[in-house]
Amino acid sequence: MKVISTVSGLQKQLETTNRKPVGLVPTMGALHEGHLSLVRRAILECAQAVISIYVNPTQFNNKEDLKRYPRTPDADLKLLNTVLREDDLIFTPADCEIYPTPDRRVFHFGNLDNVMEAKQRPGHFNGVAQVVSRLFEIVKPDIAYFGQKDFQQVAVIRELVRQLNFHIKISSNPIVREPDGLAMSSRNMLLEPQIRKDAPVIYKTISRAAEMISENDIPEIKKYVTCNINERAGFEIEYFEIADDRELRTVESQKEMEKGKKYYGCIAVKAGKIRLIDNIEFPLL
Ligand code: PAJ
Repeated sequence: MKVISTVSGLQKQLETTNRKPVGLVPTMGALHEGHLSLVRRAILECAQAVISIYVNPTQFNNKEDLKRYPRTPDADLKLLNTVLREDDLIFTPADCEIYPTPDRRVFHFGNLDNVMEAKQRPGHFNGVAQVVSRLFEIVKPDIAYFGQKDFQQVAVIRELVRQLNFHIKISSNPIVREPDGLAMSSRNMLLEPQIRKDAPVIYKTISRAAEMISENDIPEIKKYVTCNINERAGFEIEYFEIADDRELRTVESQKEMEKGKKYYGCIAVKAGKIRLIDNIEFPLL
């Protein structure tokens, strides 16, 4: 594997190796098995893999969150070295490579940018769209790999691809979890010990909620989820919504759930000082 930090260096290397298809895995580093599952898939399907590691400032609506976002560059390279092939590339750009001039583009994603994460983190998806479209322009991948962990992000990226007419296949991949059920996240390492111990309550609660759908309507389920999270010391629910995975239309009763669509229960929780998100598929009855 090779580590490259400039756009020109990366493009030159891609031209020289000239392997197709090209698979891109965008990340912000502090890598874990969730990221590696995307990398493994890219290697399996693509002759050339590019892994980007870049903590994108424009997607952080909270400066504190950006400041404390974990950065573990040595460990990241070590981990990637265990899976990448000789010609695979790690792209670690500085801010000026991604944004040579300030990115003032404003994207419009309609409903996708009005619900759940978008409501809690204004401007977040605009920043994600800025960086991902830049990475797409720089790397020109055939396939780009994302995790279902960031459920809303996948929908936004699909819409971005449609709007900007990128010829890129978006691959959405299952959530990788810790043995106790907590969805892997770079932010997990920031949790205080007692909060980390109790954090599996999030997945346990949404798993139970998905089972409840056979006998309960959505208001009861929402009440259960809210109580079960909030009764745990240090945990506070931000939202729990059930939405389809394409338009992210949230539903308030089972009657609104349409056949042929896939629905997910999506949760955001403040666990101590850290925000955690998770989701699970809700079966249609
Ligand atoms: P980051 O949080 O580093 O995540 C990079 C990719 O890994 C995302 O597609 C995310 O959904 C996926 N991922 C994270 N945890 C996962 C898990 N437990 N199981 C499966 N996949 C998981 O998401 C971002 O970075 C940024 O917004 C980015 C797309 C890189 C743009 O800056």
